[in-house]
Amino acid sequence: MKVSADVRALIERRKEGHSLEAPFYLSEEIFALDMEAIFRQHWIQVAIEPDVPEPGDYVTVELGSDSILIVRDDDMQVRAFHNVCRHRGARLCNEDKGTVGNIVCPYHSWTYNLNGDLMFAEHMGEKFDRCKHSLKSVHVENLAGLIFVCAAEKAPDFSAIRAAMEPYLLPHDLPNTKIAAQIDIIEKGNWKLTMENNRECYHCVANHPELTISLYEYGFGYQRSPANADGMDAFAETCIKRGKEWAEIGLPSAEIDQLLDTTGFRTQRLPLDRSGESQTLDAKVASKKLLGGFEQADLGGLSFWTQPNSWHHFMSDHIVTFSVIPLSAGETLVRTKWLVHKDAVEGVDYDVKNLTAVWNATNDQDRALVEFSQRGASSSAYEPGPYSPFTEGLVEKFTAWYVGRLADKIGA
Ligand code: FES
Ligand SMILES: [Fe+2]
Repeated sequence: MKVSADVRALIERRKEGHSLEAPFYLSEEIFALDMEAIFRQHWIQVAIEPDVPEPGDYVTVELGSDSILIVRDDDMQVRAFHNVCRHRGARLCNEDKGTVGNIVCPYHSWTYNLNGDLMFAEHMGEKFDRCKHSLKSVHVENLAGLIFVCAAEKAPDFSAIRAAMEPYLLPHDLPNTKIAAQIDIIEKGNWKLTMENNRECYHCVANHPELTISLYEYGFGYQRSPANADGMDAFAETCIKRGKEWAEIGLPSAEIDQLLDTTGFRTQRLPLDRSGESQTLDAKVASKKLLGGFEQADLGGLSFWTQPNSWHHFMSDHIVTFSVIPLSAGETLVRTKWLVHKDAVEGVDYDVKNLTAVWNATNDQDRALVEFSQRGASSSAYEPGPYSPFTEGLVEKFTAWYVGRLADKIGA
């Protein structure tokens, strides 16, 4: 892929352990490169099974100039296609979400079934071969109910992340949940600032009074230092004690932090503070109907972070999923979904305000932090600053992964 000499130089001289130079957050050329080298080449978490519970249910997601259509077919498989008609290219489904029997182009009514096969195309003559005009498929993986797509011709390996993560995720039975709430926010900041902010909890104490009721900051890749030794040691002991209890009921909790092929992810089941049940204002479950076959509420929080664009918290009673979609160099969509057991009844088993209180507040606080960072990066005085070796190791992992992928793409 062709990039300017300036962009190549920026990628090649990236200083390890430091935030990125300003053009990474501001430049339109780098934004276009991000969409091509990252969002078109890697596994992007864009949806969840409960977005498309029935055959014909679809969602659309915009990844740069590509629109991806995610649809459940008649055999209950989740499929993904480019949302582009094979006649003259009109966008097929023009809503964020909906239900169709077949996929019918609004322009000249070419009609595709849910497998993407072209079924009807009037006035095309006898020589026209319908079989050569199926929808273009997009790689899709359904990991325990989390839907990932990859629009590359050849997708990076997914089998290793699946093998590692299924034992952690499957007990929470995401496919049998429903979306109790969804909030889309648009942050006025570059997507990498959203992700960098997500990969550390250095800022939590000062900024997240609601989140830190239940969450221990130490679970975020902290390294032991003289300043945090007491807290870290106590936390490590709690992890071991709770980990043993969870292992007895078949729930793995050990940290996995891996880069397999180019698919980077991290997971750990972390103890929660106070009653230890859920990420709520009182650390107790927000939904009385527990997920899967769970019989106890204090299962901590299973966190799952993926490169480049998602993180998720799985608890005994609810799941919160976050998907980050870049909109422009300076604008990012953060899509948050709160999932409860599909049979849980609103007003009886859960209250939406209580369910969403912590992450609604936290998201808004994080939005402000990302926007402060974006404004700072626009200043002539901005220069890359050092990440803390004790609290920002995972930020460096994200940034190194990102720059590494750009370097691969441009052959740097
Ligand atoms: S562009 Fe879709 S039917 Fe013509
Ligand atoms: Fe935060």
